[in-house]
Amino acid sequence: MTESAYLHATQVAYDTVAADYAELLREELGGKPLDRAMPAAFAEHVRGPGAGEVADLGCGPGRVTAHLRSLGVNAFGVDLSPQMVAVARRSYPDLRFEQGSMTALDLADEAVGGAIAWYSTVHTPPEVLPAVFDEIHRVLAPGGHFLIAFKVGDERRHARHGYGHEISLDIYWMRPEHIAELMSTSGLVVDAQLIREPDDSEKPRSGRQAFFLAHKPHAS
Ligand SMILES: C[S@@+](CC[C@H](N)C(=O)[O-])C[C@H]1O[C@@H](n2cnc3c(N)ncnc32)[C@H](O)[C@@H]1O
Repeated sequence: MTESAYLHATQVAYDTVAADYAELLREELGGKPLDRAMPAAFAEHVRGPGAGEVADLGCGPGRVTAHLRSLGVNAFGVDLSPQMVAVARRSYPDLRFEQGSMTALDLADEAVGGAIAWYSTVHTPPEVLPAVFDEIHRVLAPGGHFLIAFKVGDERRHARHGYGHEISLDIYWMRPEHIAELMSTSGLVVDAQLIREPDDSEKPRSGRQAFFLAHKPHAS
């Protein structure tokens, strides 16, 4: 699939499900202590005086952006889907959400102190992922931190239904070693990897879940 075809298909799918996705996942993090562990550590790195803004890339309905704000992070959201951005703005009117793509961010070089991609690269074709990590590296300030969550595996599935709607959307399960290698090729240093088993809500369709914390080193 070409980059523009993937972007179009993903936008259409998330425009379709935005309101129901937001409703279903609003409280999801509250029941997942391991999933909150890495954002908690990430927040310690990217909050406080001089820390800069933090971009929640593929923010969807803004629940993770809001969670980061509750941890003292100066976070804003970016999402491909205008409907997701609209839902996020309605749900969290005090936070900033913009429409955009992490394949070509409307951000200057070194503009942000941190970035997070919480299950938002799971629709990105593997051949496009290197460009996404290059883009994240570009917008991060030296010393800035990056957190990614993704599904562990090595396959592509095509979803025709989701969140009560008919959709057409590719989902990729990725090997942790491959993600670590791509991040490192883009110049990011992986600091920690948390991989957990699927919980009852994820079995049997999904498998293990991965959370990687990385940073962009200062130039030597
Ligand atoms: C599985 S949802 C996760 C949303 C949010 N991070 C959360 O956990 O609730 C994936 C989101 O990534 C967004 N997305 C996918 N590809 C994107 C891209 N290239 N740029 C920006 N957003 C993207 C989709 O529109 C969708 O809202």
